[in-house]
Amino acid sequence: MPSTAPSTVARHFLSILDFTPVELRDTLDLATKLKSDRRLGTKAPTAQALGGRHVGLLFEKPSLRTRVTFTIGVRELGADIVAIPADVMHADREPIDDVARNLERWIDAVVIRTFGQDRLHEITKATPRLSVINALSNEEHPCQALSDMQTLVERWKGKPEGRRIAFIGDGNNVCTSLVHAAMMLGVSVHVATPKGYELPDEVVDQAAEISQHGAGLTEFTDPKAAARDVDAIYTDVWTSMGQEVEYAERSRKFMRYQVNAALMALARPDAVFMHCLPAHRGEEVTDEVIESPASVVFDQAENRLHAQKAMLVRLLT
Ligand code: CP
Ligand code: NVA
Repeated sequence: MPSTAPSTVARHFLSILDFTPVELRDTLDLATKLKSDRRLGTKAPTAQALGGRHVGLLFEKPSLRTRVTFTIGVRELGADIVAIPADVMHADREPIDDVARNLERWIDAVVIRTFGQDRLHEITKATPRLSVINALSNEEHPCQALSDMQTLVERWKGKPEGRRIAFIGDGNNVCTSLVHAAMMLGVSVHVATPKGYELPDEVVDQAAEISQHGAGLTEFTDPKAAARDVDAIYTDVWTSMGQEVEYAERSRKFMRYQVNAALMALARPDAVFMHCLPAHRGEEVTDEVIESPASVVFDQAENRLHAQKAMLVRLLT
C-alpha cells in the first residue's frame, strides 16, 4: 500500500519538551484508553488509526523494550514497520542527511536510538515531512518518561500533582526526561548524584521554566536526604550504553547510591520502586528491592507499549 505522508511539516518527538503540559496530559489519557481498549484487538477504535502508514525503526544501540513495544504498537495502529539496519548511519557510507532525505520519500516516521541528540536534530533539519521519534539518545529518553508517568498516574489515581519522586544515581538521559515530564505534571523531583554526575545545567533551567503546580527540582549528593518521605524512588544503571570504558570508575563512585531496603525505608510507606530496565541487580538496586511488592518495573515496561501508541497517534494523525 502506498505511504500517505502528510504534505504539512511533520511533528517530532525528540524530547518531552516537544509537548506542552496539556499535550502530555492528553497523551497519558489516551494511553490509558488504549490500554483498556487493547482487549478489543482489531475491533479497537484505533486499530486502523495509522492505516497505510509506514514507520521505520533504526537502532544504533541494543534494545529489548523499545524495539519490541514500537514493533507491536505500530502494528496495532494498522501501520507497517520497516526495520532499518544501523549500518546505514555510518558516515563513510553517505551523509546522514542523505539517509534522511531518502527515508522521507518512503516512510512517514522513523524511530531512532542513537548517540548524540544532535544527530536527531540533523535528521529533522534535512527532512520536513518525516516525523522523528527519539528512542533514546545520550541526552534524553522521552518514550521512557511517558510510560513512567503513565505508571505513576495509575498508582496515584489520576492525581500526580504535589507528589515527590527521588531519582538516585546518574544524572543521565532517563533522569533528564523524567524531570521534564514530572515538572509538567506538577510532580517534584529530588535528584541525588555523586559530584560530577549531576544533571546538565540546561536541564535544571528547563525544569524551572516548565514546572506546573509549584513542582520543584532539588539536587542532592546524599541519597538518604533525597529519599526521605518521597512517593517513588527511581534508579537506572550507573554506566549507560556508550560509557562502558568508565565502568570500573563509575562502580566505585556510585557505590553509596545503591537503592536497597534501608533506602526504601526512608520513603513513604506506600512508595514505589521504579527502574527503566535493564537493571544490574547488586549494583544500582538490590534483588530484594526490585523483587519487592513496591516494585513497578514491569508495569513501566508494559506501559511503554500503550504510552508510545498514544504518542504515535498524537504525532501522526
Ligand atoms: N528501558 C529501555 O529503553 O529498554 P531497552 O533498552 O531494552 O529498549
Ligand atoms: N541510561 C541507560 C538507559 C537504558 C534504557 C542507557 O542509556 O544505557
